[in-house]
Order: sequence, then C-alpha cells, then structure tokens
Amino acid sequence: MPSVLTPLFRHPASPLQELESPTLRQGGVRLLIKRDELLRMGPGQALSGNKWRKLQYNLQSARDQGLETLLTFGGAYSNHIAAVAAAGATFGFHTIGLIRGERPEGLNPTLRFAGACGMELQFISRSAFREKQEPAFLNQLQEQFGPFYLLPEGGTNSLAIQGCRSIVEEVEQQTPYFPDYWCCSLGTGGTFAGIITALNGRAKAIGFSALKGDFLAGEVAQLLQSSPLWGDKRGTWEVNGDFHFGGYAKFEPYLIDFINGFYQQHGIALDPIYTGKLFYGLFQLIEQGYFPKGSTILAVHTGGLQGVPGFNERFGKLIEMRP
Ligand SMILES: Cc1ncc(COP(=O)(O)O)c(C=O)c1O
Repeated sequence: MPSVLTPLFRHPASPLQELESPTLRQGGVRLLIKRDELLRMGPGQALSGNKWRKLQYNLQSARDQGLETLLTFGGAYSNHIAAVAAAGATFGFHTIGLIRGERPEGLNPTLRFAGACGMELQFISRSAFREKQEPAFLNQLQEQFGPFYLLPEGGTNSLAIQGCRSIVEEVEQQTPYFPDYWCCSLGTGGTFAGIITALNGRAKAIGFSALKGDFLAGEVAQLLQSSPLWGDKRGTWEVNGDFHFGGYAKFEPYLIDFINGFYQQHGIALDPIYTGKLFYGLFQLIEQGYFPKGSTILAVHTGGLQGVPGFNERFGKLIEMRP
C-alpha cells in the first residue's frame, strides 16, 4: 500500500437525509440516511453506492502498478461486477469478470450490461469459484490472461476498507448529530469494516447480514484485525443475522411489500438483496424498542439498484421500477 493514498477519482459527498415517519416518532429516534445510491457515474450509472468508495483507491493502485486489466469475481447478478465493468469503461481498464456457475442461455441485465461495457465474461464452475483465493488458481489465471490487478469478490480488501471510511468522515461534516448507531448491509463486510475503523469506538455499528450463516462476524473481525487503518482498535459492533430472509437473494412477499411501500412513502428506491433487508430489519428493531429513545441512527443506502431489473426479469416485476 502506498504511504499516501490517493483515489483515482473523487466524488462529491453523498446527500444525508433525515427520514420522517410515524414509526420513528413512536420509537423516539432520529433516522439519517446516507444516500450513496445517489452517487452515480459511468455507463448506466452503475458505478454507484458503496462500489464507488470501494474502488477508488484500488483503481489508483492498479494504475500505480502499471496494470491495464482488472480481474474480478462475482455472481450473475452482482452489483460489483456491474460496477467494475462500468469503472473499466470509464477509466480505460480492460476488465475480466469470472462469473460463478454455468453460462445461462440468455444473459441477465447485469451481465448484458457488463458485456456491453467491454467486460470479458468467463463462467466458472462453483467448485472452481471456491478456489478464487488460492495461489495456484490465481497463477493459472495469470498464465491464461496475463498480468492483471485482482479485485476480490465484492471488491473487499484493505483499500476498499480505506475508501469506505469516508462515509463516516462525510457524515461528521454534514450533521451536528453524531449518530449513536451506524447501520449498513453486509455482504463481504468491507463497507462495515470501513465504518468501524473510522468510528474507532465513538459509536456502535450494526451490520445487517444479507447472507445466511453465522460466519460473517468472524470475517469482519479478521478484516479488522488485518486492517492497518484501525487506530487503537476500539469499536463496538455487532452483526445482526435476523433479516436475511433465508439467504442471499431469498425473499418473502412482505419484503417486497415493504420495498414498494418505502418508495411510495419516502420516494427512496431499495433493492431486494441488500438495502431492502437492511431497512426492513432496522424498522423492525425500532418497533421492538431496540434503540433507546433519543438515539440518532444512521443507515447507509449502499445502492444495488442496478440489480432490480434482473430481479424483476427473474421473478416477475415484483418491484415497482421508477426512472
Ligand atoms: C448494494 C450493496 N449493498 C451492500 C453490499 C455489502 O457490502 P460489503 O460487501 O462491503 O459488505 C453490497 C455488496 O456486497 C452491495 O452490492
């Protein structure tokens, strides 16, 4: 890691919006939303949400090393794949996406978009996908594709964690109410780890897991321990595993109702994989009285809206789409 980090691109601070709702009034809490989904850039505006923050230092690192190709991994509907493809098209990198599973007969909107951005798509078996961090497998990829800058699945590494710290830094500038609770959705844990390191014990962080299983707290702990950015290693945080709806991309009709209702009430679109589950869970906790009256809660809207057309194509227009 270079001693002075510079991002390849800078973005404006995303808006911070206070939400009004009867649930919040009854719970006696203030809810601020960090609207990273409104940070949009590149073709299809797919460089958005937490992806913008996670990629900014990584792209500069690739440039510094003289690497012209970005290689990464993801599922067929991955927001990260879409963002890397858009970043490659924007900043002049060749991109290779290794996609989990067999090539489908017709590509979904995410993969069509990635291909249109110039991403070379390779489909690999689920067992090969599990090898994605193994040196032997990565060497084989070097032989196949030549030199590349490796972005892990979901884009999480120490430079991504560095990029996500700016969520906290921006909020500190945007409101006199330093939030007591900082909430975000959890996939690989990089965004959450960035928030925890920047908070450094000043408030509690809660990560809402989008995945089933209790492994994420361990992964976050590992990311934190290996992060050179975590000041004096203080922090109060927990992973909430109660709102994954059965696992990644699983859902129930009442989640869809919540997402559509949230848009009608507040004009804020949510995705069904990450942010819909985050806000659903958060409102449940507020109703259950989890947060003491007088608390200020911050929730990060990490984006993910590029995935909605693919979700609707697969499951039948469940989520009302707006421009
Ligand atoms: C929209 C969205 N929100 C949240 C996350 C979770 O972020 P992280 O992987 O850093 O935990 C992801 C990706 O993984 C995402 O695409």
